[in-house]
Amino acid sequence: MTTAPTLRGLENKVVLITGAGRGQGANHARAFAEAGCNIAALDICAPIPDLYDTATPEDMAQTVKEVEAAGQRCVSLIADVRDESAVAAAVASAIEQLGRIDILINNAGMAALDSIGDMRASTLNAVIDTNLKGPMWMAKHVVPHMVGRGTGNIINISSAVTGNGNAMLSHYVASKYGVIGLTRSWAYELAESGINVNAVCPATIRPGEGHGSGMVRGLAAFMDMDPIEAYDMWNKVGNFPGPKWAAEMQDITDACLYLASDNARMVTGHVLYVDAGQAAK
Ligand SMILES: NC(=O)c1ccc[n+]([C@@H]2O[C@H](COP(=O)([O-])OP(=O)(O)OC[C@H]3O[C@@H](n4cnc5c(N)ncnc54)[C@H](O)[C@@H]3O)[C@@H](O)[C@H]2O)c1
Repeated sequence: MTTAPTLRGLENKVVLITGAGRGQGANHARAFAEAGCNIAALDICAPIPDLYDTATPEDMAQTVKEVEAAGQRCVSLIADVRDESAVAAAVASAIEQLGRIDILINNAGMAALDSIGDMRASTLNAVIDTNLKGPMWMAKHVVPHMVGRGTGNIINISSAVTGNGNAMLSHYVASKYGVIGLTRSWAYELAESGINVNAVCPATIRPGEGHGSGMVRGLAAFMDMDPIEAYDMWNKVGNFPGPKWAAEMQDITDACLYLASDNARMVTGHVLYVDAGQAAK
């Protein structure tokens, strides 16, 4: 007898997603809800000085609406992943309201464009503190809960830029290499507690409108470029040529759904490049 190729074990799971106000995080929230999960959606929903715009409270309300439209619960947590006490309070609130956290997706992230000689302290700190230290604070407060239950799944969002270097993005690239270091170390440290830890490295994602992926849109504004023009430029540098190799948010969401499912129960400490060929170049 053959079994249908479906993702197993996602029903009724509780998923905490950082950076869920818009973009890939919001897409993950909607898709995990459609798979039967309840969602704790965390986002800063406030500007970070000298960086492009972040999600707004209206974006977060939209995420909640989309999860609820899928028939699932969504708890909205306004918190900055750079702030350990805010992270601790948000995690406690998620557990109190939803009963537990089964899956943690460390997705909140920021990029900035700075040459080495003109590196700004404000952007260097914001990028490292959000992309590298943020997942560490999240894990510090979620992991003891998962260890206590002897089960859990953590997905860290790195980037396809770890397949090579990138001019003007050295702080961002370094932070995303660091995320791979966290992933491998946590997989080792948490193996005996039955917790899977993996990373996903997204290709450059086509910029979305409004609630969609805002990273390329934000960097394009900094360069005074049209977002699609900037996307085409990075797409050409990174992804394989040809129309097939244009990554959308759902490509990354599909990788997260797989890694969070029981289908991937023997997969831990891995880095899944959803990179449209970038690492092979
Ligand atoms: N867009 C791309 O091309 C691309 C490519 C590779 C990797 N990534 C990574 O994917 C992840 C999602 O990016 P996206 O494309 O959805 O961009 P996005 O800017 O649309 O989403 C990032 C979200 O993180 C939130 N956020 C930022 N700083 C925060 C903080 N300190 N605390 C809490 N929330 C914070 C923002 O408000 C926003 O909602 C990021 O980690 C990014 O580095 C993106």
